[in-house]
Amino acid sequence: MASPIVVVLSGANLNLLGQREPEVYGSMTLDDHLALARSAAKDAGITLEHVQSNEAGELVAAIHAARGRAQGIIINPGAFTHYAWSLHDALSAFDGVVVEAHLSQPQAREAWRHTSVIAPVADGTISGFGPQTYPLAVSAIATLLKR
Ligand code: DQA
Repeated sequence: MASPIVVVLSGANLNLLGQREPEVYGSMTLDDHLALARSAAKDAGITLEHVQSNEAGELVAAIHAARGRAQGIIINPGAFTHYAWSLHDALSAFDGVVVEAHLSQPQAREAWRHTSVIAPVADGTISGFGPQTYPLAVSAIATLLKR
C-alpha cells in the first residue's frame, strides 16, 4: 500500500520561529521543527508535505487541495487558532484525520488563547511540548491512521 500523505499546515507568524519570542516558542526555526517531523514521519512510513502561510485563505485552499488526496492534516494555525472559523469549516469538509498542534500551551496563557475554533474539528491536540511537539503530532497521527 502507498504510504499515507499527511499535510502539515503552519499558520500566522510561524515563519518567524527561532526569532519570535524565543522565551515562549524556543530557538528552533520552522525548518528545524519540520526536520524532526520528517524524521518521525519517515520512521512511521508517512509522506509529509508542508504549507506555511500568514493568510488564512491560503490555508483554506491547502485544506481543499488535501481533500481526497491526503489521509491526514497536522495543523498549527498560530493565532488563527482562536478566531478563524474559515479554517474550522474547511477542516469539517476534510474527511481524513486532523491533529491540532501548538508549541506552547495556550490554555496556560492569556484568556484569548483559551478558545480554539479548530479543536471541535480535530481528532486530538498536542500542545505545550516545545521541540517535541511535531514528533509527537506525527506519532499521534500515525496512531489515528492505523485505526
Ligand atoms: C501557537 C499558540 C498561538 O496562541 C499563537 O498565536 C501562535 C503559536 C503555538 O504554537 O504555541 O502563533 O499556535
